Amino acid sequence: MKIGVNGASGKLGGAIIEELGARGGGHQIVAISRSPEKAGGAAEARKGDYDQPDTLLHAYAGLDRLVLIPSADLRPGVRGTQLKSAIDAAVKAGVQHVFLLSAAGTRQARVPALGEAYWTGEQHLIRIAPRWTILRMNYYTQSMIDEIMMSQGQGILAGLSEDRVAYVSRNDVAAATAGAVLGDGHAGAIYNLTGPESLTGHDVAAIASDALGNSLSFAAITEEQLRGGLGQAGLPDIVINAFVDIKKTFVEGYFDVLTHDVERLSGRAPACFRDVIAASKS
Ligand SMILES: NC(=O)c1ccc[n+]([C@@H]2O[C@H](COP(=O)([O-])OP(=O)(O)OC[C@H]3O[C@@H](n4cnc5c(N)ncnc54)[C@H](OP(=O)(O)O)[C@@H]3O)[C@@H](O)[C@H]2O)c1
Repeated sequence: MKIGVNGASGKLGGAIIEELGARGGGHQIVAISRSPEKAGGAAEARKGDYDQPDTLLHAYAGLDRLVLIPSADLRPGVRGTQLKSAIDAAVKAGVQHVFLLSAAGTRQARVPALGEAYWTGEQHLIRIAPRWTILRMNYYTQSMIDEIMMSQGQGILAGLSEDRVAYVSRNDVAAATAGAVLGDGHAGAIYNLTGPESLTGHDVAAIASDALGNSLSFAAITEEQLRGGLGQAGLPDIVINAFVDIKKTFVEGYFDVLTHDVERLSGRAPACFRDVIAASKS
């Protein structure tokens, strides 16, 4: 099979290409992004820009299966448009099966909500692709670890209220995606890629304190306080808005979804938060 990965130069794309390669089978892997030369391990590199649909038609030519990883573009409305262009191009190029990386808790949403892109992408895919599979990622363990590292100085891990999240390691998302792409019987399925446990903010702070040997506590603060703190740290408004949006979805339970889909698709149990944070120290 000829398998394309769009977003190949990124962290998730790189991990997916590695997992596809490790599973063997002699498949041809095509690395696609604006800078495909940065992706290692692929048989072929092609330039494809979600903002330039013509480049996508060329990038997707001859592919049997295609993995679409959304860009990290935070400008309101942009990612939804990008995903629609990519799905249109894949269908036009004759790609037989498209695998979309989406997000846990996806539901109808409008710009400027971050989740609008996932809703728009999922719905467009379901409407027009001949064969599709949706892989809804939970929140990356690694993204929360980055937040923990930034919060260590103050000793406070902030949230907007008590929340629960089934954090998943990026490598487990990659392994499950590779398992789905190389497997059969996944057309028309929506999977939820989650870690093995759904943790509260207090749980995360306790695990981090234990693993890092520092004292970290969870505290619920107001949206105004959260925005003020992020502003003081020098973050631009577009990042602050995205961060607050994510914290609101935490409280609303979007990521409090626990499944066995990672193990079902990858053949291995997902890593727990404690193991990922311990490994990040070494
Ligand atoms: N669930 C979570 O917790 C969580 C956390 C963070 C991110 N995410 C999502 O997961 C995605 C992958 O995460 P990651 O860590 O791998 O991000 P990343 O390292 O920033 O990779 C993003 C990829 O998107 C590509 N890209 C950006 N703009 C593009 C465009 N206009 N056209 C084509 N490709 C473009 C980039 O390649 P080039 O720059 O070479 O084009 C890169 O390969 C993110 O983009 C975001 O949607 C989820």
